[in-house]
Order: sequence, then structure tokens, then C-alpha cells
Amino acid sequence: MHEKFVISPSGPLKGSVEIGGSKNAVLPVLAAAILVENSVIHNAPRLSDVEHMCQLLESLGAKTGWDGASLKVDSRGINCQEAAYEWVGKLRASFLVMGPLLARFGTAKVSLPGGCAIGTRPIDLHLKGMAALGAEVEHCQGYVKVSAKKLTGAKVYLDFPSVGATENIMMAAALAQGQTILENCAVEPEIVDLANYLNAAGADIRGAGTDTIKINGATALRNIEHTVIPDRIEAGTFMVAAAITHGDILLTNVMADHVKPVIAKLKEAQVQVQELDEGIRVSHGRGAETIAADIKTLPYPGFPTDMQAQFMALMAVARGTSIITETVFENRFMQVGELKRMGADIKIESRSAVTEGVSQLAGAQVTASDLRAGAALTLAALCAKGDTEIGGIHHIDRGYYGLEVQLNKLGAKIQRISN
Ligand code: UD1
Repeated sequence: MHEKFVISPSGPLKGSVEIGGSKNAVLPVLAAAILVENSVIHNAPRLSDVEHMCQLLESLGAKTGWDGASLKVDSRGINCQEAAYEWVGKLRASFLVMGPLLARFGTAKVSLPGGCAIGTRPIDLHLKGMAALGAEVEHCQGYVKVSAKKLTGAKVYLDFPSVGATENIMMAAALAQGQTILENCAVEPEIVDLANYLNAAGADIRGAGTDTIKINGATALRNIEHTVIPDRIEAGTFMVAAAITHGDILLTNVMADHVKPVIAKLKEAQVQVQELDEGIRVSHGRGAETIAADIKTLPYPGFPTDMQAQFMALMAVARGTSIITETVFENRFMQVGELKRMGADIKIESRSAVTEGVSQLAGAQVTASDLRAGAALTLAALCAKGDTEIGGIHHIDRGYYGLEVQLNKLGAKIQRISN
């Protein structure tokens, strides 16, 4: 079923919003649940990406089920080590089952993810790690097969601090014999969350959150309950919603440390951000000017690539010119053409988007090409003159649970319509 958003101008959004569990934290934790007989994962967001990951685990033989906001995974019945194209095509993070399947069964066959809307996204670093731990890596008919009689700890240097490669290798090494040292690895909060889950289950992982992680292989992991961290990208998106509508929103269940770069850039744009005991309050008075700020996406703790499109929507109506440089992904300006249809003045020059703020955007028919582009268009529509229709909103549902419901509670006027 194809659905679209029809968004009418709303005026300032006001009120409070509770941020859900992190998509990018729960997906690797679900993959790691392959290593544990029974896991209960609290604060799990009910996103379509999470449902797809559960279906993939079920296709391997696991049982999964919701109990309120908690997800239960029983991995005892896993008897298949193949993640089919059907899953990896839908959800790139499916590739993360490779490390845990290899560690538990000595073999895994996972479909290659191929291209996606935001670039080619290679998996060479994941495979470099598996090979360093002693796995034989074979490519056949669109699949990668890894197998090893025994995984042995090793030193692995990542050429780029890839989030997925760090997670995949960490999960494989959790049950390898001896010590693995991961160098130049990713330091994102989701890496720390995964290490916390694995450590609570009996793994020995030190240094997560720094660029060197040491993993002493364990023999088995035990049953575990874990609470997923709040979603820093959902939080950043609501912060921009407050700024772009000149509203006043209190975000609860958010970790201020995780959204530091977004807070810094909002402040640079002259938006007020207060870190309070109860949460983060973002306000931008009716007549307050938004000042253009440059951003450059970088691995954590730099400005997150997953917030680049939403921030561009804000810069599209700021005073002055902002230069937005994307260094993490090679093709992540898919929102630009659609924002231009709404009257934005943006030029792409190599890896930068030069955004000249306009005083008002205008509603138009646009299409979300990927998750964050969809969020950016929704934000732009909130402050545009006239109605905006956004197609392709299944992309938005991958990473935001009922985005329109949450925004409507704050005063937005968004209808979800089936075509
Ligand atoms: C994760 C996030 C995604 C976020 C990204 C960067 C999840 C489920 N997704 O994606 O939302 O945008 O981190 O913060 O957590 N690369 C290689 N070789 C590899 C792996 C990656 O060259 O083997 C490159 C990629 O092409 C890309 C860069 O490294 O240019 C970053 O990718 P990576 O950190 O791996 O992102 P993901 O884990 O796919």
C-alpha cells in the first residue's frame, strides 16, 4: 500500500515529545541476540526496520515477540545460517547477522547489500575483519559466504571507522579464541550500547566508545535483559522541528551528550537550546532570525550524516549562505532536488551543498527518496506556504514511529493518506 503525507502549514509547534529507543542501536543488538539464548530488549522502537530484522531472525529459526515496548528474542531454534536477498535488500543492517552467525555456527551466507539510495556502501571492512579472525571468505552469486573451523582473535585496523564493520567484527570476536584488538574503529553511542549488551551477557569488551576496542573471546553468552539508548537522530529531528516552525518543544528521554553537535549548530543558527533536568528544550521565538551555519558531516562526535538533510531544510530558510559538506557518504544529497521544488535555493558543488536561505518555502508535490530525506521534506513542509504532498513515506516509517502522530500532538497538521 502506497501512502503519502499531506502537510498543511502549522505555525509554531509547542509541547513535549518523548524520544523512542534508537533504531541504529536496536538493530545490531537484535543481530547480537543470535549469540544469546534468550534476550529481552526494552525501549525497542516499533519501526518497520525493526520488524524486518525480527522477520529475518525468524527466517533463521529464532522466535521474536513484542511485550509492550519490549522485544523478546529466543534464538535457541536457529538452524539456518543464510540471510536471503529478500531481507538484505529491504534492510541493509541485515548484513550484521554475519558476525554472530559465524561466531555461533562457524558459517554464514549473507546476500550482498548492493547499492542503495545513499551510495554504494561497500562491505570490504566487514569482510577484512572476518578474514583477520580466520574466516574463509567466498563470493558466489550475489552472496558472501564466510566459514571457519575456529575463530581466533587478531589485530584489525579499519581504514575508515565504519559503524557496521565495527559492530559486525565485535560480535564475531565476542566468541573468538583469544584477544581481538580493533583499531580506528567507530566510536558512536550505538557501538557502546552494543558492547554494553554483549558485556552484560558475559562478553569481555573494553574500550567501546574509543577508537581502540579490545575483545577477549568468551566461550558462551548468557540470557540478558537490556534497555536500548534513546534515538539521537529522532531527537535531532524534533529539535529542528522546533527551530523551523519557531516553536518551543521539550524533548524527554534524550541524552544531551549524544546530540552535542546538533545542539552546537542550532545555537550557531541562533536557536535557543536549554539542557534541563527533565530534558532538552528548544525554542525559537516568532520573530527570531535563523542565521546560516556551515556543517560538515563526520563520524561521531562530529555532525551526524543522518542529520544532514534535516539541517539543510532549516538552512533553506535561514538568513545567509550555508555550506553543507557531506564526507561520510558519497551520494547523500537526494533531498536537494525535492527541496528545490519547494523553492529552496541550493547548488551542489562536489561534496558540498551551497544553500542560500530564502524567506519562505512553498508547498509542492515531492517524494522521499530515503529515510532522512523524507524527514527533511516533512520539516520543510511544516513551515512552507500552502500544502505539501510527500510520497514514498514508507522510507520515513523505517526510522520514525508515527512521525505525523507525534508532530500533530505538537500542533502540526499532517494527514497520512493511502493512494
Ligand atoms: C550506520 C547507520 C547509518 C549512518 C551510518 C554513518 C545503522 C543501522 N546505520 O550505517 O544510519 O548513516 O552508520 O553514521 O547503524 N564503508 C566502507 N567499507 C565498509 C563499510 C563502510 O568503505 O566495509 C564506508 C561507507 O561506504 C560509508 C562509510 O564507510 O561511506 C560509513 O559507513 P558505515 O559507518 O559503515 O555506515 P553503516 O554502518 O552502513
